[in-house]
Amino acid sequence: MSELLCGQKRTVMCGDVSTEYIGKQVTLMGWVHRRRDLGGLIFLQLRDRSGITQVVFDTDVCSQELLQKASSIKLEYVISVVGKVRRRVGNNINPNMKTGEIELVAEELKILSEADTTPFSIGDEGTNEALRLKYRYLDLRREKLQQNLVVRSQICRITRNYLADCGFLEIETPMLGKSTPEGARDYLVPSRIHPGSFYALPQSPQIYKQLLMIGGMDRYFQIAKCFRDEDLRANRQPEFTQIDLEMSFVDQEEEVMQLTEGLLVNIFKEVRGVDLPEHFLRLSWHECMNRFGSDKPDMRFGMEINKLDDTVKDSAFVVFQNALNAGGTVRAIVLKDGCDKLSRKELDKLVEFVKTYKVKGLAWYGLGKDGIKCSFTKAVSAEELDGIAKALEMQQGDIALIVADEEWQKACVALGALRCHLAAKFEMYKPGQFACLWVVDFPLFEYSEEDQRYVAMHHPFTSPKNEDLEFMSTDPSRVRAKAYDVVINGDEMGGGSMRIYNRDIQSLMFQTIGFTQEQIVDKFGFFVDAFNYGTPPHGGLALGLDRLVMVLTDTSNIKDVIAFPKMQNASCMMSNAPSPVEQKQLDELFISCEDINA
Ligand code: AMO
Repeated sequence: MSELLCGQKRTVMCGDVSTEYIGKQVTLMGWVHRRRDLGGLIFLQLRDRSGITQVVFDTDVCSQELLQKASSIKLEYVISVVGKVRRRVGNNINPNMKTGEIELVAEELKILSEADTTPFSIGDEGTNEALRLKYRYLDLRREKLQQNLVVRSQICRITRNYLADCGFLEIETPMLGKSTPEGARDYLVPSRIHPGSFYALPQSPQIYKQLLMIGGMDRYFQIAKCFRDEDLRANRQPEFTQIDLEMSFVDQEEEVMQLTEGLLVNIFKEVRGVDLPEHFLRLSWHECMNRFGSDKPDMRFGMEINKLDDTVKDSAFVVFQNALNAGGTVRAIVLKDGCDKLSRKELDKLVEFVKTYKVKGLAWYGLGKDGIKCSFTKAVSAEELDGIAKALEMQQGDIALIVADEEWQKACVALGALRCHLAAKFEMYKPGQFACLWVVDFPLFEYSEEDQRYVAMHHPFTSPKNEDLEFMSTDPSRVRAKAYDVVINGDEMGGGSMRIYNRDIQSLMFQTIGFTQEQIVDKFGFFVDAFNYGTPPHGGLALGLDRLVMVLTDTSNIKDVIAFPKMQNASCMMSNAPSPVEQKQLDELFISCEDINA
């Protein structure tokens, strides 16, 4: 039988009962986490968001009636307990528990809510994920998930304070809007009033935030929900959150980058007590690709990619020769003591691993204890092998992993992925280590083989670098963007750019990506119009809030930092969304699902 609270007040949270409370009477409320019944003595662990306190029902102190009531309590019942805090003695002290030095001796007990046996034991991470997502509200009682959401809330608070101090206004932008030019697939919402027309949920507030600058709002931010119908990964959800900002009267990337550094420094200090450098390293996109094979390099470890083109230019090894003759490249990474670390079987697996990155294979050459370990030894001379070892500054025990390809970027990307794979496998970084950098000087365009034309790498409102303007019409591949990504531990935390605010440059941009006047009006209509009425120089960025929480909580699964996440197939196990709706609703929206149901 549940009892009423009747105005009773909690005096302290379970996790906050310290030795300072010894001898004092307190009222705790929470869920029964564990129970142990020793006849005349009942121990309960009472849990709330802040932690756990041990509660004792002791015949010496409490009535028979109270003891009986306590013995009827089951796990996950919600109760309130009034009692005195006392010091634990002897074996009863638990040094692994925040409240391990005290316990509450119960004097009064209310059962506020009974609970059925839960489908899995609370706190049991091992239970299958689908079941835990189905009963998400139970899984949310798990300490780790609660802590993750505490950190999430902390980040939002710090962000609001920091940006407000910097003169930013928090402004909401519509959820029901028009398709944005970001590139992923939209989530569409049918309109009842306008049959056959659809709203698009925002992939980001990009267009609106730029319009806010044209509207004179000067500095905007929003903790914004974004929706992208794209394939999900460990760090991607269809519905995610950005810390989105935009500022006027800036035209240098540095201004947004420094503001963002300040925000991240504050967040890391307050949440983790970590001092990030005031200024993060800046590397050009080209350098990142060359040295790390990634536009989001993980800088917690070395193992950089080396270019062997000169060293092997006269190689007899046909794989190297073919790549070089075709204008390609030969690149390598060196795994320290790799000869011992990698068996032949493991090397074969690595060959298969790199092939998934569209290169033909992987050659290896190691300076093993018992001699050379090399996949192409028959094809080359001892001098050539020596040359490679020298060029790569290899030491006894090291192994070089080599990729030759006709395209430098493909070779680098494959080795970049291998580098991260090996670093994870051989634990080359520790929890609590944070390596931040800015990737800058992105190409403004990339060539789309599918469309046979250049497309904007970010979006068509990203400003080109002033000094590269001259190549816009002559060689678009040489034009760099005033764009920047912030990367932490090999994950893209955010990105942004200076925007085009000059009409002539905007026209040139559209021309370069092959848009006709009709296409411009059709795709960007009202947005392009707005630029005709006085646009301040402006730029901004968006940080992925979910990814930031992941990094700050050492979590590798994005679902663990979102209160109600979606599964890999974009469905919600708990509510069963998406789900069919009544025919009446479909009729109102002029939608027919006959083909699907057939
Ligand atoms: P971008 O598309 O790079 O930029 O997104 C910014 C950041 O949002 C995060 N992110 C995601 N997080 C979880 N799940 C997803 N599906 C997902 N997609 C992106 C990443 C990413 O760095 N409007 C521009 C920003 C700007 O130019 O100001 C934008 O949306 O951390």
